[in-house]
Amino acid sequence: SSKRVSIAIDGPAGAGKSTIAKMISKKLKIVYLDTGAMYRAVALKAIRQNIDTRDEEKLSKLVKDINIEVRHIDEEQRIYLDGEDVTNLIRTPEVSIGASNVAVVPEVRLKMVEIQREIASKCSVVMDGRDIGTYVLPNATLKIFLTASIEERAKRRYNEQLLKGITDVSLEDVKNDILYRDKNDSSRAFAPLAKAEDAVELDTTNMSIEEVVNKILGLIEDQC
Ligand code: CDP
Ligand code: CDP
Repeated sequence: SSKRVSIAIDGPAGAGKSTIAKMISKKLKIVYLDTGAMYRAVALKAIRQNIDTRDEEKLSKLVKDINIEVRHIDEEQRIYLDGEDVTNLIRTPEVSIGASNVAVVPEVRLKMVEIQREIASKCSVVMDGRDIGTYVLPNATLKIFLTASIEERAKRRYNEQLLKGITDVSLEDVKNDILYRDKNDSSRAFAPLAKAEDAVELDTTNMSIEEVVNKILGLIEDQC
């Protein structure tokens, strides 16, 4: 019989979490869960209702009957907000900042974490986020904390936008967005961005994607 594995990948924006986690999930044929997309969907709902994403009281109410679903279609993760596929609507700068704001609210986090743990209880997963190793899956098989310098992370995100044809956001804008979220995510009281004591920290500033993936696959072999 095969044992269920869970791999937690945490770290700040642009460290390479989702890129690496997706590749690990393909290699190991296990489910990938992008937990950031869930907070982004909550932010989108708030923005649509003209709710200030820092209004804790209104957000606590908003998530009471929110329906966030993650479906895997053709090896791709799609995120559904109250039945609507919002996958292509949650990558804007406004939603990024909004996600970081709604993620401060304990009621929002508890609701998301419930969904995340439910998925991990049924399938082997590789999950990326900010609090996976410290809070969501404290008993994960392997915990990775990915980092890279702020300059490198901003450059990566900026290049990604250029590839998508987005040219109205400067490198400075991208850097400021990341700095705001890093600070906000690390300083919140409940389940902040932090390295778990038993996580392996990888500084990827000077590593290629392939090097990072191979390093993690090696660590998985050692532990599983
Ligand atoms: O999920 P997270 O915000 O941590 O990062 P991401 O969305 O995976 O974005 C990282 C970007 O940097 C992607 O465009 C990758 O192709 C690139 N990259 C990387 O992920 N890892 C490296 N070692 C080098 C580049
Ligand atoms: O891809 P990127 O690193 O830019 O962001 P993301 O992973 O999509 O997450 C967006 C925001 O959601 C983060 O800035 C965090 O504030 C929040 N988040 C969180 O609080 N906990 C998680 N497990 C995942 C995301």
